[in-house]
Amino acid sequence: MLSQAVQDAINAQINAELHASYSYLAMSAHCDHMNFTGAAHWFRLQSQEEYAHAMRLFDFLLARHGKVELRAVAQPRAEFGSIVDVFQRAYDQEREVTQQINRLYETAFKEKAFDAVIQAEWFVNEQVEEEKSTREVLARLTMVKDDPASLLDIDRELGARGPEAEGAAT
Ligand code: FEO
Repeated sequence: MLSQAVQDAINAQINAELHASYSYLAMSAHCDHMNFTGAAHWFRLQSQEEYAHAMRLFDFLLARHGKVELRAVAQPRAEFGSIVDVFQRAYDQEREVTQQINRLYETAFKEKAFDAVIQAEWFVNEQVEEEKSTREVLARLTMVKDDPASLLDIDRELGARGPEAEGAAT
């Protein structure tokens, strides 16, 4: 049986992942409004991936006969500036999630909940990828500044993103 501290930490992380999902959905809508349809697609997939992260923890908690406690999901920011601003916020959000995952890992480790440690470990690895992908897009957008041809090129590439099996809640 998972200790209360571990269950609380997992429930908090479920909420954090759902908030990230909601936040990416807002970014997707904003990008669509700006006619960056590729970026809108990219953020929509990112939102789905965050939902899958929440469900991964949800399923783990249930499998360990823990108590899922769903909390209110905070309203995401709806107003953004340029496309660079949106990706800057996405990158900041991923860095924040990394801190949350690190805290989850630390709690599981301190409580000697090794099953939860292994779950948290998957997320530690995932965050390396999540930070890398948002940082790389941000760097390229910063590089091209407001050159329309380059921005459209990047948007086209973002639009080609396919769903990632890795993030699936299996
Ligand atoms: Fe679930 Fe992007 O972290």
